[in-house]
Amino acid sequence: MSELPTGVTRHTFDGTDRLATRGEPVYGEPTDGAWRAWNPNRSKLGAMLELDMDTGLAGGETVLYLGAASGTTVSHVADFAGPTYAVEFAARPVRDLLDAAESRPRLFPLLKDARKPETYAHVVESDVDVIVQDVATRGQARVALENRRFLADDGRLLLAVKARSEDVTREPAAVFADVREELSGGYEILETERLEAYHADHLGIVARPR
Ligand SMILES: C[S@@+](CC[C@H](N)C(=O)[O-])C[C@H]1O[C@@H](n2cnc3c(N)ncnc32)[C@H](O)[C@@H]1O
Repeated sequence: MSELPTGVTRHTFDGTDRLATRGEPVYGEPTDGAWRAWNPNRSKLGAMLELDMDTGLAGGETVLYLGAASGTTVSHVADFAGPTYAVEFAARPVRDLLDAAESRPRLFPLLKDARKPETYAHVVESDVDVIVQDVATRGQARVALENRRFLADDGRLLLAVKARSEDVTREPAAVFADVREELSGGYEILETERLEAYHADHLGIVARPR
């Protein structure tokens, strides 16, 4: 079993053992004292942890999170990580993301397009420890490659690939093979796992920069 990052634990909510972090609730998740349940069905990173993927997360890392939406997952990340830059290009969810950031001084929402890293390069510090990527867009490998510039040499990319965002008509396995191939232009892939138990047609990837 991979160790959970410091600040993430397994906690019992109403008799059920679940992943949890400490922080203000964000999406109606069950709470118990300071703990809030982390729902892997609503979070690809949560699913990667549930599936015991070796994310390399220890807690306290500097994180660049791409595709933050309204903050479901990135709020958990900011509960245990260090400075957490959360990029999302749709204005509507960013309003909720700002609410999630109110009680989280280390969470920095950025209304930006992850395909244009030059537009936030002046804000995000260099050599971040981790990039978490969950963008529902075509060209997910390209987004990861374009944001590699922010990652420390010994950093980690934690990527959730959504097959249907690339091509709804193709077999997910074929899409994943292409994404892996393109990604290997800039990253060494350390581990992959289908997230099927929690998210249909998604692949979890752990990689490090080449
Ligand atoms: C599946 S949702 C993310 C869910 C979120 N990661 C979570 O677990 O809480 C995908 C998000 O990617 C965003 N997105 C898609 N293309 C993007 C881009 N080029 N730049 C920034 N965000 C993008 C969408 O607006 C959407 O909110």
